[in-house]
Parts: sequence; structure tokens; C-alpha cells
Amino acid sequence: MKNCGEMRMSYRFSKYGLASVTPSPVNRMMASFATDFRDGVDINLGVGYVNEKTIPDALLLQAMNEVAAHPEDYRQAFNYGGPHGSPNLIRALRRFYVKHHIGGVDSDCMSRQEIVIGPSGATSILDALAELFEPGIVITADPMYYIYCNQLERKGFRVVTVPEEADGLHAERVEERLEELGDAVKELAFLYVVTVNNPSGVILSNARKRALVALAEKWSDMLGRNIPIFFDQAYEWLIHDPAVEPPESALLNNARGLACEIGTLSKVLAPALRIGFIMGAPGALMSAIAQKTSDVGFSAPLLNQEMAAYMLEHHIEGQLRRVNEGYRVKAGAVGDAIDETLGTWLEKRRGGKGGFYYYLTLRDIRTDTQSPFFRFLSRNTGNADIDGTASKLRPRVVYLPGEFCVHPAGNAAKEGKRQLRLSYGFEEIDVIVRALEYMREAAAYAQSV
Ligand SMILES: Cc1ncc(COP(=O)(O)O)c(C=O)c1O
Repeated sequence: MKNCGEMRMSYRFSKYGLASVTPSPVNRMMASFATDFRDGVDINLGVGYVNEKTIPDALLLQAMNEVAAHPEDYRQAFNYGGPHGSPNLIRALRRFYVKHHIGGVDSDCMSRQEIVIGPSGATSILDALAELFEPGIVITADPMYYIYCNQLERKGFRVVTVPEEADGLHAERVEERLEELGDAVKELAFLYVVTVNNPSGVILSNARKRALVALAEKWSDMLGRNIPIFFDQAYEWLIHDPAVEPPESALLNNARGLACEIGTLSKVLAPALRIGFIMGAPGALMSAIAQKTSDVGFSAPLLNQEMAAYMLEHHIEGQLRRVNEGYRVKAGAVGDAIDETLGTWLEKRRGGKGGFYYYLTLRDIRTDTQSPFFRFLSRNTGNADIDGTASKLRPRVVYLPGEFCVHPAGNAAKEGKRQLRLSYGFEEIDVIVRALEYMREAAAYAQSV
């Protein structure tokens, strides 16, 4: 029998199932990174991997030993988790916030919050939202967190983007966009705001954050139901530029309970732990998220949660210091190198203050997957002098083309074709500088063809 997977009859897929048969652009990039990437030859400025050196493996091993050695403290760590998450981890998160005044949160504010740990990182909390809300309109910034927005659209949501400014998403611009929607605004489901935006690295200011919460309250009144606003804080503990105002939690002024914060330990400890959480007012939404967590096999593996609790209780200060110092140095060196190597073509450079991305807008150089610039860097020009030979392909440079980061129906779509996200997370500085040299060659090539 030939390939059984290629049977001619179709499946009774849902709309989401049908839309998921073709892998998303990012899915394809991740798959190719995992399969044909040549370590030490190709250069990865594309996928959002954290820097391996920031992962505290020795401390994680210590954490695992402690957890296994003290079942009286870390109960049944090798058994199933629960729908809300490990009580140890929830307690450790609460203490961490209060002890370090994260976002200005004090014990009084913390006592009003519920925390639910997801099954697999912040991603699984975002997925839960996409499952629990009736598909409708989601407002977010442009450029957008393409992974989640792609998923939302496959699930039947309509992602409506609003261009962000230097200090993030402006409530006034969102309001204009909502008004433009006319009657369709009745379909508004929620607002989704990444506080250190991925891909742009733009940091939402506290004033803008407060205005967005006020906007959610106003539109909830106008529509007669709750319009929640979810702040994705994936990179908020990685703001490494000391000049940036310390972020203030949206939960400090959240009388109506519409704001929720989504956090992760992926970027500051280890993505493999798969610890992500949501924090907000107790109530229907939190209950539904916990139920959804239960439905997919409970919150993250208990062992990981207990290890994370141990790390938060014993090692987080030093860890945060080390990680932030590392990214701060890299951001400085890479920012200078970008200006130096790509200066001629560089129209705009954003990011580099938190997280590990720069978002570049090039002048007159297309960056999309069909462009000469992209083909040069993926060694796919058809010219052996540039590409090398099949058995000895020259080093490739992976970046995230802006076309995936802007909404195709938004105002930024055209500009997106000249943009790219460059991650300074994964590779070391000298390798990134080498990649920028290749980018300079690619830009010169793009202008010559
Ligand atoms: C904006 C944003 N949200 C969420 C996540 C996912 O985090 P986690 O590893 O906790 O699933 C990422 C990861 O890159 C991200 O960039």
C-alpha cells in the first residue's frame, strides 16, 4: 500500500482543524531550524530561543535533587498536577512579587489576585483564552505577536491591529479603530497587549497601560459585557536598560477586574520547564481557565513546578541579575554593530531595551521570503558564488521576516516587507556580528539585481 496518510477521502475537520493542516510560517521555520540547521555553521537570529548560557543548569539540578529529597515539602512531585497549579509554586510566585515589589505589587494587591499555572507555558494560557472566548474581534498592536495572532485567526477570531508608537499601543488610536469598526464592534472579544512587544521590543509605558485599562472599562460599559485586557508579560522581567521606567502592574488599578497579567518563567529560567501563569481577579474567567487546564492534562508537570518554586525561593535574584546583565551587554554591542554594518540601509531600529529583539526597517530593501535579501541569506539565489554547492552550502542566516509580524490587512503590511526581527538572544555577539556582515552583503546584492 502507498502512503496511508494520503488517502483521498477527507476528514470531518473543524474550521480550526482545516486551517491547521498547512503549517503556519513560524511552525515551518521552527521545523526547519530543528532539522537542517547546521550548528556552528548557520546562524540563528530568527527563532526566539533564549541564550543557552542563561539557563542555570547546575541550579536546576540542585532544585531537582532538593525536590526529590524532600517529599514532605514537595508533595508527590512525580505525580499528576492539578487544575490550578502547585500550591508551592503559587505561594512562591506570590512571595516573589511582594518581596521584590514586582510592578509595585504589595501584599494587599496580591491578596486580591488569583494565580493559575498553565499546562505548558504562557502559550497554553493564551491557547485557553482562544478556546474559552466565542470567536470575535481581538485588538492588538501592529507589529503583532505573530504566533498567537496566527492561532487566533485559525480559531476563527478576527485580529484587528493598531500601529504601536514608541511607547506602545495608544488608547486613542485603539478607540479610533474601534469606532471605525461600526456595528462589528459588537463582536469585540478582548484586547491583547504584549508589554515588551514581540517582535518590536517596544515597551509599553505605564501611562499607556493605564489608559488601555480605562479604555477596556469604557468599552465594557458601552457593550454591556466584560471586555478584558490581557497583558502578556513574557519579557517584562528582562527589561535590561536601566533608563526605562520600572513597569507598573495593571493589577494595581483594576477595580473592575478586567485586566489580567500573563507571565512565564521561560525567558528567565528555562523554556523547558514550561511554566506560565495568569494572574487576575478571582471569578468566572479564572475558573474557566483552570477547567481548561484540567481538560488538557492538568497544569505543567509537577516536578517542574516544584523545581520552579525552589528556584523562586532560593536563586531568583542572582539569576535575574545575571540574565539581564548578559542581555544588556549583548543589546549594546549588537545595536552598535547594526548601525555600523547596516547603517546605509537602516531606516529605523527599535527594541534592544528589554527582551532580546531588535526590529529593523530597511530602506529600499525587501526582506520577505521571496526577496533577493532573504534568498542571499538562505543561500538560495541559484548563484554558486553566493550559495556554495549543495554539499558545501555557505553559512545561512535565519531571521524573522517582517511580513509575518505585521497584519496582512493592517496599515503596516507594506512596510512589513522591508522589516525584520533580529534576535540577540540565542547566538553569541561575535557570531551575530558575523551575521550582520552577511546581511550587509545581502543588502548590496539585493540592490544589484
Ligand atoms: C509574547 C510572548 N508570549 C508568550 C510566549 C510563550 O512563552 P512560554 O514559553 O511561557 O509558552 C512567548 C515566547 O516567545 C512570547 O514571545
